[in-house]
Amino acid sequence: MSEVQLEKLLIDPPAEFAAQANAKADLYEKAAADRLAFWADEAENLDWFKKWDKVLDDSNPPFFKWFVGGKINACYNCVDRHVKTWRRNKAAIIFEGEPGDSQVLTYDQLYGEVQKFANVLKSLGVQKGDRVTIYMPMIPEAVIAMLACARIGAPHSVVFGGFSSDALRDRINDAKAKLVITADGGWRRGKVVPLKANTDKALEEAPTVEKVIVVKRVGDAAQINWVEGRDLWYHELMAKADRHCEPEQCDAEDMLFILYTSGTTGKPKGILHTTGGYLTQANMTMRYVFDIKDTDVYWCTADIGWITGHSYVVYGPLSAGATVVLYEGGPDYPDKDRFWAIIEKYRVNIFYTAPTAIRTFMKWGLEYVQRHDLSSLRLLGTVGEPINPEAWMWYYKHIGGERCPIMDTWWQTETGAHMVSPLPGITPLRPGTATLPLPGIEVDVVDENGEPAKEGYLVVKSPWPSMMRTIFGGDECYVNQYWSRFNGKYYFTGDGAKRDDLNYIWVTGRVDDVLNVSGHRIGTAEVESALVECQEVAEAAVIGKKHEVKGEAIVAFVILKEGVQPSDELVNKLKKHVAAKLGAFCRPDDIIFTAELPKTRSGKIMRRLLRDIAEGRAIGDTTTLADPGVMAELKEKYASKEE
Ligand code: WT7
Repeated sequence: MSEVQLEKLLIDPPAEFAAQANAKADLYEKAAADRLAFWADEAENLDWFKKWDKVLDDSNPPFFKWFVGGKINACYNCVDRHVKTWRRNKAAIIFEGEPGDSQVLTYDQLYGEVQKFANVLKSLGVQKGDRVTIYMPMIPEAVIAMLACARIGAPHSVVFGGFSSDALRDRINDAKAKLVITADGGWRRGKVVPLKANTDKALEEAPTVEKVIVVKRVGDAAQINWVEGRDLWYHELMAKADRHCEPEQCDAEDMLFILYTSGTTGKPKGILHTTGGYLTQANMTMRYVFDIKDTDVYWCTADIGWITGHSYVVYGPLSAGATVVLYEGGPDYPDKDRFWAIIEKYRVNIFYTAPTAIRTFMKWGLEYVQRHDLSSLRLLGTVGEPINPEAWMWYYKHIGGERCPIMDTWWQTETGAHMVSPLPGITPLRPGTATLPLPGIEVDVVDENGEPAKEGYLVVKSPWPSMMRTIFGGDECYVNQYWSRFNGKYYFTGDGAKRDDLNYIWVTGRVDDVLNVSGHRIGTAEVESALVECQEVAEAAVIGKKHEVKGEAIVAFVILKEGVQPSDELVNKLKKHVAAKLGAFCRPDDIIFTAELPKTRSGKIMRRLLRDIAEGRAIGDTTTLADPGVMAELKEKYASKEE
């Protein structure tokens, strides 16, 4: 089937699915009739120490508050309340290590571990409000650490284990973290990720950190350095810890976590989320979008270092009392069938992954899929970037066996939880579109002036419970980045979007200087500043070039300093530097040396033209360029590079 036909295809929900679905069609009407009452009802699905006085405080926009006056604890909702029911002995976490080791933690066991670790944190002086940085592999201790922080009201800042020591240092310093939790290492494709060594390096320039707790994961496989008085073994602390720790009665608006993400500036932003509203929407979407049932085994492949891991590995599923699969390693280790092997082994029912992963599996071929019985699956999800209709169809046919509805969920670190998504059993599906805003969510596509349009910018028109509250230490930046584009009226997502004949929303990708490489968000400015740090580089302009598997690939146009000779060695050196500075996933695919960059008369680099060159298109309008001659040279340079 061609792309044109696929984009028009409509797949009606199967009657059997609809009959058992958590979401009922009247949710949309209910939310439209009284949005705040709808959200209040959803919040009732959580356990509150004290109920809120007011659902939404919008007296000081864009600083909105939800469930004002309510008292709640996120850890209590993810653990304690389940232990009081038959779920006490239900599997909370099924862990699969990359080397093949596995472990099951029941809710009651999780309850014990979390309380012990909360006591460990307290004994080291961590108090309510203190920030704790978590830099860990995908192991149960990472989830325990997050929940223990939540239990005592200490906001966590999880830093993805793939980030470099410099990136870790910057995030620790911005958050002024008091403590770091890490591991000796983690397993990735048979190799050790040197988490402890990276932490040591980061801490050379991170004065706020007093203690480091280290989980022993890889043992002798990592040679680690030990700083007496600062470094403490997790297992030694846990052996002495008491199993009882009362959860802190947090305010609904107390900070639950900070999570750093890339924006248009060179510096990552600490997105700040609070407790009651965040948990309400994470929990609600688990029930309605993922249709979670007590009998399900649920697996989201995201790392806890991203928002997807926060909302859909930890807070969403555990608050819903689900059984969550946690996998440590890569999809191709020891072989390219690892994901399918895990689905078969644990009889996974709900599976959530990224389009870039799906495209990779397509490329690897069906052979790996067909080795395994995937008949346990009943619902699929995708997130992170637009999914091309071919990949959607492949996922639908070969993974879902044409039985499983696919939830294409559009949302962001900033939105905290799903925003635009079909509801399974209700929404007719169409490959490539996230379809419609969820009940209680008001999203639109608007033009430059904020007027509804067929094609334009994706905006959110009213506050929602799991919205970011601000940027940590940057209220002004929060207002400028998200609320100034449409004069305080709408939240600006940074995404472009279109509407189709059914009014379905097609998110087309970022319209700002943010790249999406394999579902990872990277600011062009971050890569550019890493490049100009190199003594050979005078100036750099970074763009994203369409890539079959990654979605976008990083291409850097670099002007060298006077007298520096371009060479292949220099290309490699610069690529290596960016990887070391930001993390391996930020390594540029191409570096092109040039004498000039296309700039407007006011000196702004025209990235649009650079993209035209990198993607081999006819070059667009150059009339605003200070020197239109630049383009001919660049085009030639790029062509010779491609040969
Ligand atoms: C950006 C947010 C939210 C979890 C993962 C990424 C893109 C995300 C979709 C989707 C089209 C999507 C957008 C968005 N994006 N999901 N289903 N369809 N685009 O979180 O790192 O904060 O990135 O990812 O461009 O703005 P993030």
